[in-house]
Amino acid sequence: MAQQFIFQMQGLTKAFPGGKKVFENIWLSFYSDAKIGVVGVNGSGKSTLLKIMAGLDKEFSGEAKAAEGTKMGYLEQEPHLDPALNVDDNVIAWEEV
Ligand SMILES: Nc1ncnc2c1ncn2[C@@H]1O[C@H](COP(=O)(O)OP(=O)(O)O)[C@@H](O)[C@H]1O
Ligand SMILES: [Mg+2]
Repeated sequence: MAQQFIFQMQGLTKAFPGGKKVFENIWLSFYSDAKIGVVGVNGSGKSTLLKIMAGLDKEFSGEAKAAEGTKMGYLEQEPHLDPALNVDDNVIAWEEV
């Protein structure tokens, strides 16, 4: 049987209020065991894309959907760390967004 995608974007377009279009018509599909890096210069839209994938930013057009039953986690670039936890536990604490 063909492997199921764990996340799919179809025609994903993001423009901020004021008109700045960060990306347009992105089509991507991810396999569940893939390790994927998003590479781009500062301001190219990496964090914006990840926030959409994590479900934190719902203001976009097109489709961006995780497979049913998938848990999404998002570790911010500048996270508020809990000093009582070690690195592993801090990451785990951010798993559920
Ligand atoms: N809340 C926002 N309102 C308006 N513009 C934003 C907002 N967040 C990010 N941007 C703009 O969108 C572009 C992409 O930002 P970002 O996703 O943070 O880039 P990256 O993570 O690749 O450095 C940048 O030009 C940034 O200024
Ligand atoms: Mg960023």
